[in-house]
Amino acid sequence: VSDHPVPDALTALLDVLRCPQCGKELHVEAHMLRCPDRHSFDIARQGYAGLLGGASARSGDDPSMARARTDFLATGRYAPLRDAIAHAASEGTGTDACTVLDAGCGTGYYLAGLLDAVPWARGLGLDTSTRSLREAARAHPRAAAASWDVFRPFPLADGCVDVLLDVFSPRNPGEFQRVLRPDGRLVVARPTAQHLAELRASVPGMVSVDPAKEDRLHAAFASGFEEIRTDHVVQTMTDLTGPEVGALIGMTPSARHVDLMDEAVAAGDIPGSVTLSVLVTVFRRR
Ligand SMILES: C[S@@+](CC[C@H](N)C(=O)[O-])C[C@H]1O[C@@H](n2cnc3c(N)ncnc32)[C@H](O)[C@@H]1O
Repeated sequence: VSDHPVPDALTALLDVLRCPQCGKELHVEAHMLRCPDRHSFDIARQGYAGLLGGASARSGDDPSMARARTDFLATGRYAPLRDAIAHAASEGTGTDACTVLDAGCGTGYYLAGLLDAVPWARGLGLDTSTRSLREAARAHPRAAAASWDVFRPFPLADGCVDVLLDVFSPRNPGEFQRVLRPDGRLVVARPTAQHLAELRASVPGMVSVDPAKEDRLHAAFASGFEEIRTDHVVQTMTDLTGPEVGALIGMTPSARHVDLMDEAVAAGDIPGSVTLSVLVTVFRRR
C-alpha cells in the first residue's frame, strides 16, 4: 500500500465523482478511491485518479506528444488563447461554487487558466494520457485529474458541472449534456483552417484542418446546445525558435506523420512567424 498523500483537489470532488463501474459514490480508503460495492481505483503517486483502470482508451496522446505540449505551452505563446478561453468561460459564473470539467485536459493548461480567473471554482481534468495527467494533477491547487476515455459514460453525477471545457479535444455531446447543469456552459475551442498554416506550407506531412469539421461540430451539438457567442482568437507568433517550432509540431497529431520535421528544423527550413487561429464558442444547454 502506497502512502503518498491524496490531493485535496481530488478529495474536494468526491461529491460529484461516481464509480465508473456501478455509478455509486466514491470515497477515499487506503489511498484508493472505493465505492460501496468495493470497486477500487488507484490514485497515482503523481496525484491523478486511475478511473480508467485497465480499460483501453480509443485515443490519446503518446508520451512524446505530451512532452512536446508541456514544452510548447511553457513558452507562453498560447497565453492569449488561454486568456480568451478563461474570459469566455468565466462569464456568467456568478460567485457561487463552480465546478469545471476539462474533457481531454492534456497538461491542464487551460483548466488552470480558468481556475486562476475564477478563484471560487474547482476543476477536474479527464484525459487518457498518463504523461499529461501527471502534469494536470499539479497544474493548479484546485485542479484534480483522472484517467478517462471521453467516449465512455463519464464517472460523474448528472448535472454537476457548471463549466465544461473542450479545447482541441474529442467531444461526447450526449455526456456533455448529461453532466452539465441546466444553466451550465460548454466552451469548445478548435482550430480554423488558418491555424498554423505557415507550418503546413513548409513542413511536409503536416495534417490539415478538415473544412467539414466545423459543420460536424455544429450538427453534433445542435439538438442539445444553443450557441451564445463565438470569439475568433487570432495572433501571429513571431520569431519562433527551432525548438519552439519542433515542440509546436510535436504536440499536434501531425507528429505521427512528420518524418522530416527534425531535418527541417535542423536545416533552419522553418517559418519564423506562425498564425494562431482558434474559434472559441460558448454554448448553453437547450
Ligand atoms: C490536442 S490535445 C489538447 C489537450 C489540451 N486540451 C490542450 O489544449 O492543451 C488532445 C487531448 O485529448 C486527449 N484525448 C484524446 N483522445 C481522448 C479520449 N478518448 N479520452 C480522453 N482524452 C483523450 C489527448 O491525450 C490529449 O491530451
